[in-house]
Amino acid sequence: MDLIKNLEWRYAVKKYSDESISEDKIDRIVEAINLTASSCGIQPYRLFVITNPELRQRLGEGSFNAQIHASSHLLLFAGFNEINTDYITNYIEMMELKRNLEKGGLKILEDTLIDYFSPQTPEQNAIWSDKQAYIGLGTALIAAAELRVDATPMEGFDSKLFDEVLGLSEKGLHASVIMSVGYRDADNDYLALTKKVRLPIDEFSTRIS
Ligand SMILES: Cc1cc2nc3c(=O)[nH]c(=O)nc-3n(C[C@H](O)[C@H](O)[C@H](O)COP(=O)(O)O)c2cc1C
Repeated sequence: MDLIKNLEWRYAVKKYSDESISEDKIDRIVEAINLTASSCGIQPYRLFVITNPELRQRLGEGSFNAQIHASSHLLLFAGFNEINTDYITNYIEMMELKRNLEKGGLKILEDTLIDYFSPQTPEQNAIWSDKQAYIGLGTALIAAAELRVDATPMEGFDSKLFDEVLGLSEKGLHASVIMSVGYRDADNDYLALTKKVRLPIDEFSTRIS
């Protein structure tokens, strides 16, 4: 199907039907996110796919977004709290293995990354990780639209509550952004038939030749 048509079709759904997304489609969305780009290529965030109803009720407490619990699946993009040397070393080791390089074959890259990240504060690392997580979010939105699966990206949630309930701090993570997926309840979602609003292309983008 045509990418632009699929992006025109998608919108941030407010009300979902009870229909579940097949695990096969969820797998494809997860795979697309794993395949997306990240700065330095080290994927400094992790993805959680949450279905447990009680857990989702709890996670949605205090939020205006009913989609946190009332949708088929909830995806959580959780950024790293810091980029430490061990993580970089292990990731580079995996790259060497995958690319059939000898151990140490990517030492220059490893040292460059360690030199770049080590002087940074954990806060700077976490902000950088969040940016990478948002690239994952963008890819997830496109992947869902391509599968004609509805989705809602959300910042309207209590990130501290997510951290606490899911024990993210102990894993060196924090909740960056979330996305629900499911199928729209077109009869009861006030946004289902509203026209998509975007700037004229010439106002939004400038060509410099
Ligand atoms: C990072 C991000 C956070 C968002 N947070 C919420 C949210 O908490 N709740 C919600 O209903 N929509 C949320 N949205 C959806 C936007 O409001 C929506 O994408 C925007 O109005 C454009 O409309 P469309 O996506 O339906 O075309 C968010 C979108 C993004 C990209």
